[in-house]
Amino acid sequence: MLSLSTISVLVLALSGGVSAFPAHASLAGYSREELDAIIPTLEFRAPTLPPGPINDTSAKLVNDKAHPWKPLRRGDIRGPCPGLNTLASHGWLPRSGVATPAQIVTAVQEGFNMENTIAIFVTYAAFLVDGNVITNQLSIGGKTPETGPDPPKPAIVGGLDTHAVFEGDASMTRGDAFFGDNHSFNETLFDEFVDFSNRFGAGKYNLTVAGELRWQRIQDSIANNPTFSFVSPRFFTAYAESTFPINFFIDGRQSDGQLDLTVARGFFKDSRMPDGFFRASKPMGADGIGNVAAAHPIPPGRNVGLANYVPDPTSANFSSFCLLYTNFVNQTIRSLYPAPTGILRKALNTNLDFFFDAIPAGGCTQVFPYGQD
Ligand code: HEM
Ligand SMILES: *[C@@H]1O[C@H](CO)[C@@H](O)[C@H](O)[C@H]1NC(C)=O
Ligand SMILES: *[C@@H]1O[C@H](CO)[C@@H](O)[C@H](O)[C@H]1NC(C)=O
Ligand SMILES: *[C@@H]1O[C@H](CO)[C@@H](O)[C@H](O)[C@H]1NC(C)=O
Ligand SMILES: *[C@@H]1O[C@H](CO)[C@@H](O)[C@H](O)[C@H]1NC(C)=O
Ligand SMILES: *[C@@H]1O[C@H](CO)[C@@H](O)[C@H](O)[C@H]1NC(C)=O
Ligand SMILES: *[C@@H]1O[C@H](CO)[C@@H](O)[C@H](O)[C@H]1NC(C)=O
Repeated sequence: MLSLSTISVLVLALSGGVSAFPAHASLAGYSREELDAIIPTLEFRAPTLPPGPINDTSAKLVNDKAHPWKPLRRGDIRGPCPGLNTLASHGWLPRSGVATPAQIVTAVQEGFNMENTIAIFVTYAAFLVDGNVITNQLSIGGKTPETGPDPPKPAIVGGLDTHAVFEGDASMTRGDAFFGDNHSFNETLFDEFVDFSNRFGAGKYNLTVAGELRWQRIQDSIANNPTFSFVSPRFFTAYAESTFPINFFIDGRQSDGQLDLTVARGFFKDSRMPDGFFRASKPMGADGIGNVAAAHPIPPGRNVGLANYVPDPTSANFSSFCLLYTNFVNQTIRSLYPAPTGILRKALNTNLDFFFDAIPAGGCTQVFPYGQD
């Protein structure tokens, strides 16, 4: 059965012209008939190889003359990731908030010194579930605009705001989708970030604070969100993201692992680097993730009703990393694209190859949900 929203998308797609299917909206979840109507209206951009590592991986000025912070313009998109929001607001990514996966890999490497294989793995995971593989575009948000002086335009489908495929529950500074807004900066939650930094970090956010705050956010969702889900991939991204402020928001010339809270607010709330900001001094990923998880271990699982957290033994965990990859491809992606054909299948397969190639050689066995060619 077609829902009202898919019918309106279809009408848009068929009418062509000014209000065509958005080039950065995901094609996930549409029926064969809908895809047959939408895809011919889109400009096909073949996937390009993900960028390799950068040559110069030293700390350097990234809030520079060529990358000044600018406020949002009408229509600019921002979303749940303060890292990507900041790169867009400094022009390391297109300020519109819509980018190709290759642009995202380059931007996180150049702007923050994110390590190459991690940058590719995370970017292509997000792109496969939330991006448009025909136009090769990904929205870092999903609504346009998030804030700004102008009246909001209608929401569009897809992008990183899409709940439960990449965006997930128990974020540090964003609410759970269950409570309505899953992507905007939430002052109350940031106050908690500050409170925990005061209590466990003497006024700074560090790895000790990260372990305590991560646990608090999980406990909060267990107690208050009956739909709380904390299985792979969210199980991994939640712990990884707890380390990112330490690994990427601390100036690369500073090596003590203590993040200033004014600096943190700039990134989380305003998508803004401090004046004179230097990126990390070496390629970084989720360094410290083990410390965060070990502070208060909990198995992957979900609430079955309020305050009733039930472990899910079929989810990947820290001792079964390949299951993260396998389930993501064989379950998550396949459920979004049950039976792709033509250029859609080809584009999915190429991007699935890029995604798999980011896993250290010999680490896992590749899965081919749509055949091999
Ligand atoms: C490589 C491509 C990246 C993608 C596709 C991506 C995507 C995302 C998404 C979808 C979320 C929301 C998850 C959620 O809380 O529900 C998120 C959160 C987050 N990201 Fe990124 N991200 C990327 C790189 C980065 C980088 C380079 C940084 C740091 C410079 C960063 C910092 C963060 C932080 C701190 C959060 C947690 C926000 C919170 O819990 O309040 N990300 N990211
Ligand atoms: C990195 O170094 C290699 C080998 O020296 C060179 O071919 C390549 O062009 C360099 N890349 C950039 C982005 O400077
Ligand atoms: C995420 O938040 C946006 C904006 O508030 C909302 O439109 C969207 O429905 C939310 N997604 C889910 C799955 O709750
Ligand atoms: C922010 O988060 C708090 C705590 O979860 C919640 O009570 C509040 O409604 C949220 N505020 C907004 C504007 O979403
Ligand atoms: C975090 O800060 C607190 C207070 O200064 C300190 O006791 C703790 O060792 C710090 N943790 C890390 C990992 O730096
Ligand atoms: C992690 O998952 C594996 C494989 O599913 C399972 O055998 C193992 O017991 C789990 N480990 C923990 C600590 O939950
Ligand atoms: C992927 O899923 C299919 C269908 O459920 C199943 O037959 C196949 O064994 C799965 N492959 C892997 C590697 O899990």
